[in-house]
Amino acid sequence: MLEAKGLSVHFGGLKAVEKVDLEVRQGEILSLIGPNGAGKTTFFNLVSGFLRPHEGSVVFKGQDITHLPPHRIAALGLVRTFQKTNIFADIDVAESVKIGFSSHRTAGFLDILLHGKRSRREQMDVKERTAELLRFSGLLGLRRDLVKNIPYGKQRMLAVALALAAGPELLLLDEPATGLNPVETSELRDMILRIRSELGITIFMIEHNMNLVASISDRVVVLNHGEKLAEGLPPEVARNPLVIEAYLGRGYAHAS
Ligand SMILES: Nc1ncnc2c1ncn2[C@@H]1O[C@H](COP(=O)(O)OP(=O)(O)O)[C@@H](O)[C@H]1O
Ligand SMILES: [Mg+2]
Repeated sequence: MLEAKGLSVHFGGLKAVEKVDLEVRQGEILSLIGPNGAGKTTFFNLVSGFLRPHEGSVVFKGQDITHLPPHRIAALGLVRTFQKTNIFADIDVAESVKIGFSSHRTAGFLDILLHGKRSRREQMDVKERTAELLRFSGLLGLRRDLVKNIPYGKQRMLAVALALAAGPELLLLDEPATGLNPVETSELRDMILRIRSELGITIFMIEHNMNLVASISDRVVVLNHGEKLAEGLPPEVARNPLVIEAYLGRGYAHAS
């Protein structure tokens, strides 16, 4: 579904991502792990159009997207969340999802902001789809709460819901479980599994929580110093001496 070949980007002398080959297969949950600063978020930036690679190519569903801007890539069905979400606006949860449904079409977005003349049918569709997505995301009970007032874990679920509103076929999640307590992490795990099983969406996830990674990933790719260090099934990767060393070398115990 997604194929990166020889992807590199350098910041000055720093090889943030260096000649990485990586493939995401349709229907899988693929996790990208590695110590802080390994180049994981930079890799997401490259494949989602937020950064231009210095070399290499990215092909999505058979189309070369290497030089497309982010909105064009999203429109093709490759949608991402960000490591640090900024969704604390003074609007309620339902409104933010409604805007999410329309924000990939500029006219629709303006229509909603200006309370413009969308057809009644279109409004109903957005309303119904919003309710459906809120229910799917476990946010229906919070729909009238201001986004900034709901618990942090629910804000992270909302960030995932907003990405779903854009209609992805491939969803990129950047550390979705960071800052979540165990109950919230388990809700997130359940949601990710349902995104795949009920919506048929392929998942490519950066995550530090190794329990979460091991319990839901079909495959794991490890980055270290911008390079691909290992790839395989979760247990294979977890016992790979190179991987253990990369984590221990930076003072991490996650990979053990
Ligand atoms: N826009 C940028 N300009 C300069 N350096 C950057 C930029 N983005 C990331 N870096 C550097 O690239 C390296 C990889 O960063 P990042 O991809 O965020 O790592 P990770 O997500 O694996 O923790 C880090 O050393 C980071 O400081
Ligand atoms: Mg990162």
